[in-house]
Amino acid sequence: MYYKIISKISKPLSPEILHKLFLFSLKLRIFKKEKNFSNLRTEVFGKSFENPIGLAAGFDKNADAIPGLFDLGFGFLELGTVTPMPQLGNEKPRVFKIPEYEAVIQRLGFNNRGVEDFLRNLKNFDKKKNQILGINIGKNKNSEDNFSDYEFLYDIVKVHADYITINISSPNTPGLRDLQKKENITKLISRLPSKTKTTFIKISPDINDRELDDICNIVLDSAKIDGLILTNTTISRQNLYSKPIKNSWKIEETGGLSGPPLRGLSNEIINRVYKKTKGKIILIGVGGVSSGKDAFEKISLGCNLVQLYTSLIYQGPSLILNILKELSYLLKKNNLKNVSSLVGTNIKP
Ligand SMILES: Cc1cc2nc3c(=O)[nH]c(=O)nc-3n(C[C@H](O)[C@H](O)[C@H](O)COP(=O)(O)O)c2cc1C
Repeated sequence: MYYKIISKISKPLSPEILHKLFLFSLKLRIFKKEKNFSNLRTEVFGKSFENPIGLAAGFDKNADAIPGLFDLGFGFLELGTVTPMPQLGNEKPRVFKIPEYEAVIQRLGFNNRGVEDFLRNLKNFDKKKNQILGINIGKNKNSEDNFSDYEFLYDIVKVHADYITINISSPNTPGLRDLQKKENITKLISRLPSKTKTTFIKISPDINDRELDDICNIVLDSAKIDGLILTNTTISRQNLYSKPIKNSWKIEETGGLSGPPLRGLSNEIINRVYKKTKGKIILIGVGGVSSGKDAFEKISLGCNLVQLYTSLIYQGPSLILNILKELSYLLKKNNLKNVSSLVGTNIKP
């Protein structure tokens, strides 16, 4: 309904202009509502989360709308991906909506205003204890050394973050996903400072089982990495052929696919990782979450926290409250006291 109305009145506007308008409306703080679900409170890496539903990286790349995003009801926000220097990203058009699947294909390529601007915004934000912030860091397209951007960013953002995410899984920066290979990831971790901040690595759903097992082993052995964010967008289009699409040329566009067609793929990865790591590392599940049931499923598969992005585009500001209501109800219905009692149980919603 929300998407039908918005797409009718905004037909001539590109997805990127619409996104800017959304961020602008968040800055006006018009969505503030009271959201309090005691059974959704959860404790992860020593921090108290009001609820386990977070905003995924990429929505607020420059930390422009932090208070307005918390107004929507999120339990935590992941800001970024931020790079050291500002960069424009790829040529436009580069974001394609596929309403038939409530999905998006995009190849933005880490467009952002750079870390200086990002930190200025963060310094202006009066952070409360329960407003958990993650900062997602990435490398500039033209940086000469694959690791130095991460080393540099880690150091300067850490005082502002409750956790840091090392993003080596976006499909839109050439060569970035090669950093997921065993030798590279080991080298990257060795370049990070010894443990100062809760740290996650964000992984692509397109890696094979061996690469995934290698990553699990590395994280299990590493004192510097606390967990994984599963997953980024996919370059696969396998789940976009079950029904006809009006502008089917969009499927062929290069870029990462997100939304419901990613859900199954992301859940398979979560399932495999949880079976291998057995609760010894923290998992944040992301990919195709658009309801309380989807969030329940990811937690039940082993995630401690959940994130979303694409469903917010299609369902609008009321989405988070709806998810929180449904998740809270589903916990009660299954006689579960709280979120942590659901983690890894494999209970079906
Ligand atoms: C327009 C757009 C931009 C994104 N930008 C980033 C980004 O900068 N960094 C990142 O780690 N992930 C980025 N993502 C991926 C999301 O954080 C998330 O992993 C993915 O979209 C799957 O979740 P969803 O199905 O709920 O959207 C982006 C996704 C979209 C749709």
